[in-house]
Amino acid sequence: MAGFASQIEGRVATLSAKLQAHLERTAGVAADLAPRHGVDVERARLGSLAHDVAKAMPREELLRQAARFQLPVNMVERNNPGLLHGPVGAELLKNEDGIEDQSICEAVCWHTFAHPDLDDLGKVVFLADKLDPAKIKRYPFQPHLLEVARDDLDQAVLEFVTWQIAAVMAAGKMVHPLMVEARNHLIAAGINTPAGNPA
Ligand SMILES: [Fe+2]
Ligand SMILES: [Fe+2]
Repeated sequence: MAGFASQIEGRVATLSAKLQAHLERTAGVAADLAPRHGVDVERARLGSLAHDVAKAMPREELLRQAARFQLPVNMVERNNPGLLHGPVGAELLKNEDGIEDQSICEAVCWHTFAHPDLDDLGKVVFLADKLDPAKIKRYPFQPHLLEVARDDLDQAVLEFVTWQIAAVMAAGKMVHPLMVEARNHLIAAGINTPAGNPA
């Protein structure tokens, strides 16, 4: 595990101070959430630190890397290649750093939109990213979301994606199909739809 951690920490150390600060705050929230849900704290920390390793990559480079790794690129991502930073980051960790922890790689891959197959570690990383206290202006319902996330990861993911889909639609933008699929999956699994906009 030591070599594995040093690979991720080494890659993170190459990122900007601003991005590193976001990753550290995300890891801090994950350290709060993980033990409440039986998720390994060290792996949640590493997944959190790794989730934005490709965030600073220029759009052209993301498209180039997506082609190199033969990642499918849908219409929403073609329109906004920045959205590929999760899948590209996961491929870099797998192929360049030799990270074989599937859970961590999926957490990185799916941290932007969630995914029907997201496991608890992935849900912790997904929510911790949104619960970075520096994002309070973007997500003013953070205190509520943190409360729900401490109690029930599925409910928190469902509430967040429901809010996010509504916000994206209200802004006249395209909705990423994975976010819709993740939401449908949670509802099909019996998670209750939030009554309204938590904001
Ligand atoms: Fe991200
Ligand atoms: Fe992030």
